[in-house]
Amino acid sequence: MARRKIVAGNWKMNKTPKEAIDLVNELKPLVVSDDVDVVFCVPAINILTVGEAIKGTNINLGAQNMYHEESGAYTGEISPNMLQEAGVKYVIIGHSERREYFKEDDEMLNKKVLKAFEHGLTPILCCGESLTQRKQGIYIDWIRMQIKIAFQGVTADQAKTAVIAYEPIWAIGTGETATSDQAEEVCAAVRQCIREIYDDATAEAIRIQYGGSVNGKNANELFSKPNIDGGLIGGASLKADFGNIVNYK
Ligand code: PGA
Repeated sequence: MARRKIVAGNWKMNKTPKEAIDLVNELKPLVVSDDVDVVFCVPAINILTVGEAIKGTNINLGAQNMYHEESGAYTGEISPNMLQEAGVKYVIIGHSERREYFKEDDEMLNKKVLKAFEHGLTPILCCGESLTQRKQGIYIDWIRMQIKIAFQGVTADQAKTAVIAYEPIWAIGTGETATSDQAEEVCAAVRQCIREIYDDATAEAIRIQYGGSVNGKNANELFSKPNIDGGLIGGASLKADFGNIVNYK
């Protein structure tokens, strides 16, 4: 069975609650699609308001991060059960900005992935190499390691529902998109890694996105590749162009 495409907007630290409603209202009619899952990963403070604003639409609610405990003395953090009760379906885990600025490591991300599943949230697990790692020729090894650690203890049934976002760090917010061949090479390697950890059925079911300077012009070529099941979109998710990405065909 063909995998359903998934296009997720990562708003990052943009939009106040009021601005968020304006953006949802602008994008709502542009992201209608029968065959693409659409997700808005909004700042935590906008989750409830955006949740209200997308009622009755095809837009799914997503978060950009969560902690791996249900409650307790973790000042400033948000728990998976809080997200779930607020209507969140997807949660980005291990974005390269969180790895770099907030020192999140693979072991911690594994805990977050397990907790997300425990609370019925679908993780969008990010992986990707730096420019140095690409030049050194170790990018596939690096990404395989990120995946293997993040999926420790995850069952095949859980992994089948997961989303992995391949985001080369050098392509994020730079306007320098990976070529569709470069993106396909890594997404195929990620699928192969999942096949080795689990089996064919899991590898064929899991959805793998490409992220990094995706826009309405390059989405079609990227998403037409056999192992690319959609995209994780930063800058262009804050603009009307997001509608062109969802309707990439
Ligand atoms: P970009 O960001 O689309 O602005 O490159 C992608 C991301 O960081 O998820």
